[in-house]
Amino acid sequence: MRKSIVLIFFIVASIILCGNAQEQSNIKNNQTKTWWKEAIVYQLYPRSFKDSDGDGVGDLKGIISKLDYLKSLGIDAVWLNPIFSSPNDDNGYDISDYRNIMKEFGSMKDFEELLAGLHKRKIKLVLDMVLNHSSDEHEWFKQAKSSRTNPYRNYYHWWPEEKGKPTPRYSFFDVNNDAWKYEAETKSYYLHYFSQKQPDLNWENEKLRNEVYDMMKFWLDKGIDGLRMDAFQYVSKDTTWKKYPDGYEKDIIKYYGMGPNLHNYLKEMNKSVISKYNVMTVAEGAGSTLEDAHSLVDEDRHELNMAYHFEIMDIGNDPKGYKLSDLKKAFTKWDYSFANKGWLAIFLGNHDVPRMVSKYGDDSQQFRAYSSKLLTTLIMTMRGTPFYFNGDELGMSNIKFNNIDDYRDIATVNGYKTAKAKREDLKAFLDKQKFISRDNTRTPLQWDASANAGFSTGKPWIKVNPNYKTVNVATEEKNPFSELSYFKKIVALRKSQPVFVYGDYKVYDIENQDVYCFTRVDGNDKVLVILNFTKKDLSYTIDKNINTVNAKLLINNYEGMNAIDNNTVKLKAWQSLAFKIHQP
Ligand code: BGC
Repeated sequence: MRKSIVLIFFIVASIILCGNAQEQSNIKNNQTKTWWKEAIVYQLYPRSFKDSDGDGVGDLKGIISKLDYLKSLGIDAVWLNPIFSSPNDDNGYDISDYRNIMKEFGSMKDFEELLAGLHKRKIKLVLDMVLNHSSDEHEWFKQAKSSRTNPYRNYYHWWPEEKGKPTPRYSFFDVNNDAWKYEAETKSYYLHYFSQKQPDLNWENEKLRNEVYDMMKFWLDKGIDGLRMDAFQYVSKDTTWKKYPDGYEKDIIKYYGMGPNLHNYLKEMNKSVISKYNVMTVAEGAGSTLEDAHSLVDEDRHELNMAYHFEIMDIGNDPKGYKLSDLKKAFTKWDYSFANKGWLAIFLGNHDVPRMVSKYGDDSQQFRAYSSKLLTTLIMTMRGTPFYFNGDELGMSNIKFNNIDDYRDIATVNGYKTAKAKREDLKAFLDKQKFISRDNTRTPLQWDASANAGFSTGKPWIKVNPNYKTVNVATEEKNPFSELSYFKKIVALRKSQPVFVYGDYKVYDIENQDVYCFTRVDGNDKVLVILNFTKKDLSYTIDKNINTVNAKLLINNYEGMNAIDNNTVKLKAWQSLAFKIHQP
């Protein structure tokens, strides 16, 4: 009897002690440990991933046929761009039925098979929730526009003709950048921040909100693991429709983002939906300030859990280049602010921006592979959850179309019409698109050197990048030094070293325009990352406070390196290195 009392005492004491130890490691940066902080997310653009039926459009069966490829990458979760029914004015970001699968992509049965196949391989699934707007072909909108008294009328924002012209609102994709479209049937204008076929949903309407929550539960009950909240920062509108100052569109997030009721809606959504599931929720766009982002994702806010902010993405937008110190400052500012509270998504590419290697690296034949591996290193060694865009693991680069007819993206196609109407320099417009257009990143995934890169047996919906003959999965799988092999290696490294997930980040030498150097520290675990962002070989002197004696090389994007000598290391063009080091 006495023995068992002693045993119970011992067990209770050790639980308390272990709990304290856990707490202590968390006190350092207050970060609780969760699966979605430790996950590596692979963003998969279904339209361009793999076509199974020869219609030139990627589909769910195509993805199913590549499940083992996804597994081989070592990633933990897949974020799928929208797969719901859609007339595809904006490649699925215009949804006509939230509870069905887009015909070109397959059926609900295919979806269920895909989800089961991912789960079987221990890969989670994140779906894209487009809730700021629907398609104008959604039944709600068809009803709403049929009469002013239709029960669905208030699912959208209307401005009756008798009130005169609506207060101007900017539209991202409209040829005239006018966010109000006139509907003769009910003599009213409706609001569309994006294209005319993407009317904004009226979140002020509780009925609409409840329908949306039910729809979210429908997918969560199927067993999905996360939600990426598309453009959600725009859902709450200032319905007094006040006039904004001239030029407001240059600072659009300040005016459109973080509307008066946004937090109320998110809290309501969290209470009635999200809190009931163990899912990750990502805020695409995170307001204009660090405070805005915190207000969306800090744990004690009970809203979303990860901020996907745009500040870093906005840095490389100038085709003339960017200052490395600006990139470092942006990463550093966000990391330091989120060290103790809140959590960030880390990314350099997605379906809305050019290929990361063309934007932040060097896509010339000589340096494409090295610079792409360096950027992968940055993403995989930074604090936050990596969101890695499909094809970047191969070092895919911008296609740089010469002709407007090759473009498919509404942003470029309508932007061209706008430029033409304003008699702007169309050549200059096209030159810029080679760098900036979203289609650069949406070209088919390059599977092998066969016709259409093995993506489809039909005519692909968008041209394949001609570099597919050498930049492709089959070729890279055979080469232990390829971008793909490097990607797998660094994914495995991140998974094996928790310091890359939770360790504190510290930047050194922030004004240096050539080299990005930082450490990650978690207790006694310390790593040093050194990235040469130039095409020159150079010599870099590491801060003297970093002890590099006995530094152990963890990863290198070249086959060899010179030893660190007296805290100085010789770096090759676009070389990236990570070391395990000792505390001073
Ligand atoms: C998506 C874009 C889309 C837009 C409108 C964005 O945030 O990422 O691809 O065009 O929302 O839905």
